[in-house]
Amino acid sequence: MKKNTAPNIVPAGGLPAIKKKTVPKFVPAGGIGKKLKKTAIVSAVYFIKSMTEKELKEIKEEVLNCKKCSLYEERVENRFYPVIGEGNHQAKIMFVGEAPGLQEAKTGRPFCGAAGKILDELLESVGIKRENVYIANILKDRPPENRDPQPEEIKACTPYLERQIEIIKPEIICPLGRYSMNFLMERFGLGNQIEGISKIHGRLFESKNLFQKIYIIPFYHPAVATYNPNMKKILGEDFKILERFK
Ligand code: URA
Repeated sequence: MKKNTAPNIVPAGGLPAIKKKTVPKFVPAGGIGKKLKKTAIVSAVYFIKSMTEKELKEIKEEVLNCKKCSLYEERVENRFYPVIGEGNHQAKIMFVGEAPGLQEAKTGRPFCGAAGKILDELLESVGIKRENVYIANILKDRPPENRDPQPEEIKACTPYLERQIEIIKPEIICPLGRYSMNFLMERFGLGNQIEGISKIHGRLFESKNLFQKIYIIPFYHPAVATYNPNMKKILGEDFKILERFK
C-alpha cells in the first residue's frame, strides 16, 4: 500500500531566504522622516518668526497713530516717543512696568533710565541677559510729571499689551509695580488673589485655562530702589525665583 506522505512542498535546496525589505534608492540614508522633519521644522520656525515680526510691527504702527487718550498730545508737544516694548520676541520671561519715564520717552526704549539700571543689575544678579527677555509697560506714553496712570489711559492702552503677550507667548510674566500687578492678575483670572504688593511680591501665581498655563510673579517696581536702598535687597531676593526659569 502506498504510504500517505505529505506533498513535498519544500524544494530540494531548502526554503529560500526571506528577502530583506530594501529601502528604495531615492530615500536618504538617515530615513525619509529625519530630513523632511528637519526641513518642516525650520520652515515652520521661519514662518512663525516672520508672523511675529509682522504682528509686532502692526502694533507699533497703531501705537504711533493712537490718539485714544490725552497722552498722545503730551507726546507730540514734547517730541517724545511712545515706548512700545523691547527685547526677544520669543522670550520666555516678560517684564511689564508701569509707564515710560522721561528718559524712556526721549529715547523710545523701556527701562533705560535710573529704574532701568536697577532692573539691569537685578537681571545680571540672576544670570539673565536683558536681550533674552521682553520688556513692556502698561502705558506706552509718559504721563506728565510721571503721575500715576489713569483708569481711562489703562483701558485705552492695555489692548496693545494684551496683543504683545499673545504674540510673544511668554511662560512667565513679571509685573513691576502695583499697576501692572493689578492689571495682569485681573487679566489672567487671578483677581481673587490680589493683595497689596508688599504682601505678594516675589510670589509665583499660576494661571491656567484649557489652552495655556502662565506664571505671574509680581515684583516691586525697580524705581523704589532708587530712593530706598533697602528695597534693592528685597528685589534681589525676589528675583532669585527667576533662576529656575532661565
Ligand atoms: N518705569 C516704568 O515703569 N517703565 C519704564 O519703562 C521706565 C520706568
